[in-house]
Amino acid sequence: MDLRRTPEEGSSPVEELKRAIKFLELMGFKEVRLPEGVVERAFDPIEELEKVKEEAQKCCKCRLCKTRHNVVFGEGDPQTNLMFVGEAPGEQEDLQGRPFVGRAGQLLSKFLNLYGVTRDQIYITNVLKCRPPNNRDPAPDEIEACYPFLEKQIELISPKVILCLGAFAARTILNLPERTPISRIRGKEHKTTIGGVEVTVIPTFHPAYLLRNRRGEPEFQKDLELALRLAGFLK
Ligand code: URA
Repeated sequence: MDLRRTPEEGSSPVEELKRAIKFLELMGFKEVRLPEGVVERAFDPIEELEKVKEEAQKCCKCRLCKTRHNVVFGEGDPQTNLMFVGEAPGEQEDLQGRPFVGRAGQLLSKFLNLYGVTRDQIYITNVLKCRPPNNRDPAPDEIEACYPFLEKQIELISPKVILCLGAFAARTILNLPERTPISRIRGKEHKTTIGGVEVTVIPTFHPAYLLRNRRGEPEFQKDLELALRLAGFLK
């Protein structure tokens, strides 16, 4: 890597700053101290997130770009402590370009509202940003192609807690084997680092599963409560 090259087109001020620091370290400087506020001024996570969203809107890294109506990037408070990650957009989400707006999403909002929390106080997204035809399972190569968007979202939003909605989200985020059952991992606090951010990941049932199995609701509610408490929404 040539650290003396001119800034790359599209590279963020923070990436350039990191590169400059690395260069100084290679030059033999033991410690590089920056004046207070320099990093903050160089870096606006909300602006960066908008750039990533624009990139996702144009993405054609997998076959799903041929069948989607809209890219469903994610929405909510980009400065929240709590992020929800689902599997992939369904029919309504694909048509409206917004995550969790169908029946499963309505159920999710209902549960959140029980605690006096609204969707705009958290950030909601999915592992895949485009709908798989007929809501089939995401394919491994689609997850691989789309993962960098999720990783970037986590890096920029820097949530304390991620509630994974369903096995796909949990397995992807925690890098677990393909067949890991959600019942084995749900409700537990899994500490991990994603995109350089230390987060507590809590897997739980997907709200679409709850629409078919109302018996899972008490456990879901317990997991949601844990996530809300750890993220500071509840005492
Ligand atoms: N199911 C998901 O996993 N995500 C959505 O956005 C909607 C349904």
